[in-house]
Amino acid sequence: MFPIERPRRLRRTAALRRLVAETTLAPSDMVAPLFVAEGRDEPRPITSLPGQFQHTLESLSAEARALVACGVGGVILFGVPATKDELGSGAYDADGVVQVALARLREEFGDELVVMADLCLDEYTSHGHCGVLRADGTVDNDATLDLYARAAVAQARAGAAVVAPSGMMDGQVGAIREALEAEGLVDTVIMAYAAKYASGLYGPFREAVGVQIADGGDRRSYQQDYRNRRESWREARLDVDEGADIVMVKPAMTYLDVLSDLRREVDVPLCAYHVSGEYAMVKAAAAQGWIDGPAVALEQLTAVRRAGADFVLTYFAREVAEVLNP
Ligand code: PBG
Repeated sequence: MFPIERPRRLRRTAALRRLVAETTLAPSDMVAPLFVAEGRDEPRPITSLPGQFQHTLESLSAEARALVACGVGGVILFGVPATKDELGSGAYDADGVVQVALARLREEFGDELVVMADLCLDEYTSHGHCGVLRADGTVDNDATLDLYARAAVAQARAGAAVVAPSGMMDGQVGAIREALEAEGLVDTVIMAYAAKYASGLYGPFREAVGVQIADGGDRRSYQQDYRNRRESWREARLDVDEGADIVMVKPAMTYLDVLSDLRREVDVPLCAYHVSGEYAMVKAAAAQGWIDGPAVALEQLTAVRRAGADFVLTYFAREVAEVLNP
């Protein structure tokens, strides 16, 4: 008779542990979010996201070169426009800051780097909402869809390989797919922020892009309620039916159950966004010497893969890639 079960046999050496590891995290499994600002001469550090910048076109392309060199899977661009208006026109103008940056990166890197564009209005609207407003101040879902469609076409024409609608308007993926098809932009990938929760973890991002929601408002009438789980299955199914090629869960660490559900629910590639607040918490605790920052980052990002994500959007992309591939 055996004495006792010994699962520890497989943990004895680093080589054994590596052999039986169920999950891996490679640089190519990470996408780096990058901010590009209009009309600035110098990159500006973002206080609440240590190590991240509002880039100029120059510093953006230098950062992209460094990311390519360490094998990171892609970049996703966010714009910081010089001016904002009610209709968020910078999001869809051909000379909007992200469109200019997309063209530049596409020219420099061609298909060597997967260049993505976040697709939303909030960085560009004076009121900070992700859609246009009715006279009573509520977000007009269907009027917003037309503007998202225009933004998708502008981004795709500028060189985005992937457009990523993040505004949580109903029907957004369908509207974008239809507009892209109508313009013959049939190869543009749609990566849908499918299950996006109204989260307290977006704070540093809003500093990064200078977004303040008017009248102390929030996004709870369009982003999901964190008390809900099943609702995400429906959101993801709808997005895939409307033509999404990839679906996303956001934030990451507090929604691993959702990620695990969606891994079974859909068969398209699945990703998660390890958001600004998640990055900031790790950075802040590490700066105090309370945790080992890179070790915790690696643990969290690997957990996202274990829960079912094929890849992860993370401000740690470069730092962790450099740890993985010294
Ligand atoms: C909306 C958008 C947001 C983020 C990505 N896309 C902000 C929001 O929904 O309020 C947050 C990303 C992060 O916190 O890192 N354009």
